[in-house]
Amino acid sequence: MSIVVSATDLTKRFGSFTAVDGISFEVLKGQCFGFLGPNGAGKTTTMHMITNFLPITQGALSVLGLEVMTNARVVKARIGVVPQENNLDTDLKVLENLLVYSRYHGIPLRQARGRAMELLSFFQLAEHARSPIEQLSGGMQRRLLIVRGLINEPELLILDEPTTGLDPQARHVIWQKLRQLQAQGVTLILTTHYMEEAEQLCDRLVIIDHGRILVEGTPRDLIRKHAGQEVIEVRLRPGEDRERCLETIGGTVPEGAEVECSADTLFIYSADAAKILTDLAIDPGRTILHRRATLEDVFLRLTGRELRE
Ligand SMILES: Nc1ncnc2c1ncn2[C@@H]1O[C@H](COP(=O)(O)OP(=O)(O)OP(=O)(O)O)[C@@H](O)[C@H]1O
Ligand SMILES: [Mg+2]
Repeated sequence: MSIVVSATDLTKRFGSFTAVDGISFEVLKGQCFGFLGPNGAGKTTTMHMITNFLPITQGALSVLGLEVMTNARVVKARIGVVPQENNLDTDLKVLENLLVYSRYHGIPLRQARGRAMELLSFFQLAEHARSPIEQLSGGMQRRLLIVRGLINEPELLILDEPTTGLDPQARHVIWQKLRQLQAQGVTLILTTHYMEEAEQLCDRLVIIDHGRILVEGTPRDLIRKHAGQEVIEVRLRPGEDRERCLETIGGTVPEGAEVECSADTLFIYSADAAKILTDLAIDPGRTILHRRATLEDVFLRLTGRELRE
């Protein structure tokens, strides 16, 4: 399988601050590769280096087999970018936005128009081709950003938080379209704060924090390795600490389980939560949630529960 993006010891410094701190990863053709991480982890900075929006400080980065900084134009022509910030031109209508962007890619007008209309209908926006941008809902604007990123028929599409702030309907439409694009052979790189989105879409992903990769793997493997299979959440009562709560579940960590205590919840990670629940005979008045382990558990266990801002 061919390698679409290869980064070795990739580093970005802003003055004395290191935003991306020597990360290495490979994205294979046809994959959807995810970057997860708390606010400020370095995701967008990494995307900006891949798209050559920012020069790299150190390390090696190749995209589609080409060293990025010395092949800027060729790389730009073959990749699509959906930025984190909505930067549609509100002075222009929907189709005009796409035609201006096509011109920037050197696509002849007639061809650009055809491609734009095709993509607008693929993303269920065809009847809005002549609408002003501000008449579009948030979900429509996000879809239009993706359409714009696809106008040059890229082999690699980079999506920086493509569904942030959207309702579930809009999010599911975008997931479905991204899966269709992937089936057509487009390689996807995605950043997201929605763990379910990463579970749904990503073949592989990294979790980064403070500019460093903490783990890499398939969503399923990461969940199995870092969160087990099932989770029991026991809500603490006001003023209760970990020890007091542990007492209520028998005083010790159940065999084969791991226990974590956050501000108001005791988390028990285990392969067999049902057995723990029967064995422990937890006070029935207590709020308990028994659920499967998710990528969100992995994320929070690895990056902590402290607020970043
Ligand atoms: N141009 C810049 N100059 C100085 N610092 C910067 C610059 N761009 C980003 N940073 C800093 O680099 C760090 C990483 O930022 P980045 O935008 O890559 O994070 P992120 O993972 O995309 O976060 P978010 O989830 O909030 O989008 C942050 O601390 C940010 O303040
Ligand atoms: Mg970002």
